[in-house]
Amino acid sequence: MAAKHVKPCLLLVLIFSAYVCVSAEPNNRKKSLNIIKQLNRRGPYIGLITVIRTEENAFFATGSFRPDPKYPFVDLSGRRFRIGKVHGKKVIFVRCGVGMVNAAAATQQMLDLFDVEGIIHFGIAGNVNNSMSIGDVTIPSQVAHTGIWDWLNPQGTVDQDDVAQLDIGSYNVPTGSGANLLGHIGYRKEQFFSKSGEPNIAQSLVWAKTSPQWLQLASNFGELILEQCVNSSLCLPQKPKLVVGLRASTANIFVDNAAYRDFLFQTFHISSVDMESAAVVMTSLSNGFPVIVIRGLSDLAGQQQGENAVKKFGSLAALNTAKAVLGFIDNLPGHAY
Ligand SMILES: *[C@@H]1O[C@H](CO)[C@@H](O)[C@H](O)[C@H]1NC(C)=O
Ligand SMILES: *[C@@H]1O[C@H](CO)[C@@H](O)[C@H](O)[C@H]1NC(C)=O
Repeated sequence: MAAKHVKPCLLLVLIFSAYVCVSAEPNNRKKSLNIIKQLNRRGPYIGLITVIRTEENAFFATGSFRPDPKYPFVDLSGRRFRIGKVHGKKVIFVRCGVGMVNAAAATQQMLDLFDVEGIIHFGIAGNVNNSMSIGDVTIPSQVAHTGIWDWLNPQGTVDQDDVAQLDIGSYNVPTGSGANLLGHIGYRKEQFFSKSGEPNIAQSLVWAKTSPQWLQLASNFGELILEQCVNSSLCLPQKPKLVVGLRASTANIFVDNAAYRDFLFQTFHISSVDMESAAVVMTSLSNGFPVIVIRGLSDLAGQQQGENAVKKFGSLAALNTAKAVLGFIDNLPGHAY
């Protein structure tokens, strides 16, 4: 008898919870979009996009971010967009998460939904240039996506249009044994859609260039004091430096391999590798917004003896990156904000 009474009740509960599950998400979204509408009346803002928690923590640990008293954050698609001011300038900060999908998605959201004037993208990166050191900060002038490949059989030939070729057989050990079943990799160009181009027609793109005016501002930094020590017992052998105008590359690959590092440096003449910058730059340029990339070098991308240095020096690199970001925000002309 009791079971008979339970059943309709259970059904009601199920229907109700299904209703709640379906309706909660759009309501939250609507609420967030309403807040954003109000926030945009007070715009424009500078968009700040970083990647991982270490970088976020280092940025907030500087104490320069003053959260908005009314709406300190708004959540959207699982990400938290934080609203506030840095040195008197209005900013919106988001941690996008690792990889190019996260980077492009968060950038497009930032540009579509918020009243932003441009994007400052920052984080840590692997160092592939032997004239650079861990702790240094690089503000590249251009970034290539080096993870868009044609992967061919040993007898296959790489497309004429590809920008570079990696023959896996030439990395055999012992060297000189020739062919390898993994064959060749051809590096493709990106398809770049842009509001300033012809609609629906993509251009081929290798190097996505960060905005020249912002790069110019970055070259005119006042003195930037970068940290040399993680703590009292762990220091870098030399004073870190800021270098503006090098090349960087991005792929959904964490590079921790000396041979591949060397290939990237020799082939693309890049100084740093990361997993987001090209996506943020391409997305910003597609939409016609200024963008700059600020990356602190945390490790040697495979060149090291033993363990990757990111565990030891990641937080130091993130702190130096944050300092450069603050320096750049200081340098941005104030009148527009
Ligand atoms: C490597 O870094 C140094 C700065 O430390 C720079 O002068 C040089 O041009 C970089 N190499 C390449 C290939 O970009
Ligand atoms: C300094 O930092 C390193 C790396 O995180 C750690 O292994 C070491 O114990 C720290 N030393 C002191 C004195 O805090």
